[in-house]
Amino acid sequence: MIDLHCHPLPGVDDGAKTLEVAVAMCRMAAADGITHLVATPHSNYKYHYDREANLAKLKELQEAAGSEIKLLLGCDFNLSFDNLQRLPEKGRDYTVNGTTYLLVEFAEFFVPEQMTNVLYEIEVSGLTPILTHPERNPVFQRKPELLAEWVGRGYLAQVTAKSMTGGFGSKALRLAEQWLRQNLIHFFATDAHDLNYRPPILSECYQKVAELRGKGTADLLLCHNPLAVIEGKPLPPGLQPDEPPPTPKKSWFSFLRRRP
Ligand SMILES: [Fe+2]
Repeated sequence: MIDLHCHPLPGVDDGAKTLEVAVAMCRMAAADGITHLVATPHSNYKYHYDREANLAKLKELQEAAGSEIKLLLGCDFNLSFDNLQRLPEKGRDYTVNGTTYLLVEFAEFFVPEQMTNVLYEIEVSGLTPILTHPERNPVFQRKPELLAEWVGRGYLAQVTAKSMTGGFGSKALRLAEQWLRQNLIHFFATDAHDLNYRPPILSECYQKVAELRGKGTADLLLCHNPLAVIEGKPLPPGLQPDEPPPTPKKSWFSFLRRRP
């Protein structure tokens, strides 16, 4: 599996506090079956994003963590006014692994019409926005149809793995399940910040998605789609929004089993 959104770089934001914790997060992720982890420090009013400093931290962490897991750089890019000013010239400084995919984080409260314009501006600057954890955002919780509208415009959606297993409350869980049924989710990621409350674990989410929608969908959302992103390629063909899930073929045995 590949984790597109995680905060292991020590001392750059509210993620790992020390190099020791960061190394332990990498080992925990590797033990969970994660092969690639994209470190995505915040860029917002509280935390300044310095690409060169983050690349140096990434190198230091990779050396300390060893070769079990491959670390890449991205950014948890807040859609603030200041950040948006930087995009036309410096957009690639913030994307996932230097590709055209950009993780974007919404404010707690926003005006949807304004955000439609902002997302369009990002698109015309040559980048593809990946909307991070909409299921945890109060505006999306009130207006879940916003996601269908923006996915319909070609933008991508990343839901937090722990939301899918109930760790962020019932509203986030309901939305994650609803959007999974509607084929509106392109990725699950950990958004891990530590070893306990928000750990780098994807396997529980993988299992739940496989139970609900089949292993093929779990592979798509936790392996194949994120692989395309880190390689800077188009996403592989997937289920389209609102396409019904594949129905398992009935066999004579299942027919016989239903008989009294
Ligand atoms: Fe994050």
